[in-house]
Amino acid sequence: RTVLVLNGPNLGRLGSREPDVYGAADLDALRTYLMDAAGDDVTIDLRQTDDEAELIHWLHEAVDSALPVILNPAAFTHYSYALRDAAALVTKAGLALVEVHISNPHARDSFRHTSVISGIATGVIAGFGFDSYRLALDAVTRAHPAS
Ligand code: DQA
Repeated sequence: RTVLVLNGPNLGRLGSREPDVYGAADLDALRTYLMDAAGDDVTIDLRQTDDEAELIHWLHEAVDSALPVILNPAAFTHYSYALRDAAALVTKAGLALVEVHISNPHARDSFRHTSVISGIATGVIAGFGFDSYRLALDAVTRAHPAS
């Protein structure tokens, strides 16, 4: 079974971007961490884009290929109704979609307190650094146990 781990804008800069907020590890380190956590039965397909359209197309792909999604929408979280609509296609299809954040947006700027994604997500995990993704992986693989 494959899990899509989709990351939005500026997350390709992890490691150098605001390390006090997001930590010193980069996206490759996240991929390695999740692959180790996933074990042999689960394939981690981790991607990042700064492009809203590309992120939307990946969510369409999740629907067409019936893949569960771990989504860090980054700043799109706070305003992209197009991304919300695409994410809703995933959960309406009966597939898990977990919204994750490295930081806790509720403890930061007020514009980060709103998520237009959360209302259609299966669940939300925020504030645990890269462990937010690992906890989401646990949740997703439990909802879709490998047979
Ligand atoms: C983020 C939080 C967002 O507010 C921010 O725009 C990001 C990263 C996080 O993982 O903590 O780019 O989604």
